[in-house]
Parts: sequence; structure tokens; C-alpha cells
Amino acid sequence: MIQKQFIPNTYKNTIEKGSYTWSSPSNIALVKYWGKKEHQIPENPSISFTLDNCKTITTLSFVKKNTDNFSFDIFLDGEKKDDFKPKIETFFKRIENYLPFLKAYHFTIETSNTFPHSSGIASSASGMSALALCLMSIEKALNPDMSEAHFIKKASFLARLGSGSACRSLEGDLVVWGKHKQIDGSSDLFGIKYPFHVHENFKNYNDAILLVDKGEKQVSSTLGHNLMHNHPFAQERFKQAHDNLSNLIKILKTGDLKNFIDLVESEALTLHAMMMTSMPYFILMKPNTLEIINKIWSYRQDTGIPVCFTLDAGANVHVLYPEKHTEKVNQFIKNELVVYCQNGHYICDKIGFGAKQL
Ligand code: DP6
Repeated sequence: MIQKQFIPNTYKNTIEKGSYTWSSPSNIALVKYWGKKEHQIPENPSISFTLDNCKTITTLSFVKKNTDNFSFDIFLDGEKKDDFKPKIETFFKRIENYLPFLKAYHFTIETSNTFPHSSGIASSASGMSALALCLMSIEKALNPDMSEAHFIKKASFLARLGSGSACRSLEGDLVVWGKHKQIDGSSDLFGIKYPFHVHENFKNYNDAILLVDKGEKQVSSTLGHNLMHNHPFAQERFKQAHDNLSNLIKILKTGDLKNFIDLVESEALTLHAMMMTSMPYFILMKPNTLEIINKIWSYRQDTGIPVCFTLDAGANVHVLYPEKHTEKVNQFIKNELVVYCQNGHYICDKIGFGAKQL
């Protein structure tokens, strides 16, 4: 599938070499993307909070070359990472049509994450969005007339081709990806800023990420998405995601924390239910994931404080709560939840506003 709007006209400028640096955050989905078609097209729309502290910082240096191949080196925290190369090579192949300069340069990609590499936090969203933005900075230098709007839209489009959820990391504080009938401008091809009114209750929301299991995932997201093909509950699930996004629009507008919690927790458990009911089936939650969920439920019941959880494709728990309850919830995490975290590790984060050029 070729998307004509993202194929550039001939470039005005020529550049021999240069370097750009972007910092791009991770994001946490409220309505989840799980299941995709060819060319990274999602089976259903999703929406996420952009995070603030969990981010990847990538410097892309480039120098003109004469050979007709992809040529790049990649470093994580200063260490050469040849095992990352196949993923980047696949990404370059997917986006080559849209960035015709890709074979004209040798690239050095230097990347680091603000969260520990082994934290089990997916770095693909922040990593792929940071790289897509660096590449777009080169295109902008080649074609300085490009508008800001096109820059961001195309960066999100490219990031999606690296990792689906990455297209939701460029802006904040809420981003929608995937066509939804009530959201004008929503697209399967790129993320857009959530266009409707958001109640004060959801401003500066907090996300404490409890690191339950820092090991490598047993099943990659890509594999998990593929197991939604011929999944017995797939169609019902995709429909539910559309309905949940419709309901979330009302919830975000009215500030209805009770229904927000029900929807977000149900989405998290449905995601994992899809994993447990695929063939082959798998479980990414760990016993401590369930301990934490139960503790959150009792704490909410006992105190009335609107704290809830969500999960991504792993065992870690994201604890979501409104800013005004920060002190109490932090105390609760320290007193009751830290024991379930591997080596007592957790990361306090909050909603952020997207990527920045450094
Ligand atoms: C469970 O974006 O990591 O976090 O497109 O194959 O790279 P690929 O998958 P990825 O999937 C993320 C799935 C999720 C839900 C979500 O973020 O919406």
C-alpha cells in the first residue's frame, strides 16, 4: 500500500552531512491496539496518554555516501548494538518509498532511554518515534517549505511503520490512532491529538509504573498481534474497542472517574484475555501482577480514592490516578505495592506533551 500524500516531491536542497537529536516519550493506551492488518494497519482505533519521564533520546548523524544500500550503525548508551539492526533494516525497507534519501547516507544512530533498558518497559514506541522524527528533520532540511502540520503527521506515519503504538508518542496529552466515526481526522495511518474537550479531572493524570518483571517478554507484541487473525473473539473485540472509544469521549468530557476506571481496567483485562484465548495461548501477567490488582481494588474500595490500573503487553502494572491524590497514592504504593515489584523498582510518571527536538 502506497500513501501518495507522504511521497515527497524532488528535494530543493542537497546536504552532505549533519546531525539531529530528538527526545520522544513512551505512551500508555487506555483503549488498546491489539490486532493489525498488513502494513501496520490497526484492526481497531486506540487512544493513549502520552508519558513524560519515560523517553528515548536519539541522535541521528548522517553523511553522504555513493553505494546503493542501507548503511547504518546503532549504539545504545554508547555501546554498539548489532542485534538491533534487523529491526531498523525492516523499518528502513518499509519507509524507503517515503524517504528517498535513505540510501544516500550512512547513518549513525545513538540512542538512550531514561528508563532502565531491562525494565520491561517497551522502548519501541519512544525509540521508533524518536528515530522517525530525526529522519523527518533531515527531510525538512532537504525541503524547508514543509509545514509543521505535515512534519508531525508524516513523522507519526513513519513511526507507525516502525511500531504501531509509536505513532501515538509524538504529541500529547492524549492521542488517537485508528479511524473512529466520531473523531474527525482520525486515521489508521497516523496518530492525531485528541480533538475534544477534556475535563480537569484528567489533566496532569499520574502513572506509576510498577516493574513486576523486568525480563524479556516471552511473546513479542508482533507475534501477539498476529494471533488475533482467526481468533474466536476478534470481531467482537474490535467492535468493543470502537464502542469503548465512543464511551471514553463522554467520560473525558464529563470527568466521570467511576466510568473511566471501569473502562480502562476492562480494556487492560480484555487485552490479556485475548492473549489467554488465542491459539497458541499465553499469559504475560505474573502472580505479583494479580496481587497488585487486588490491592488496588481493596484500596479503592476502602478509601474511595479513584486509583486504577492498566497493563500493556507484559507483567508490569501502570497505576493511574488524578494529580490531586498524588501524596496518598504514593504512600499506598510505598506501603503496599512495592513489595510486589522486582527489586522494589517502580517509576513515577505523569501525562506529558510529546516529543521535543534537542
Ligand atoms: C499492548 O506497538 O508494540 O501496548 O506494531 O507490532 O510494534 P507493533 O506492536 P506494538 O503493540 C502495542 C500493544 C499494546 C497496546 C497499545 O499500546 O495500544
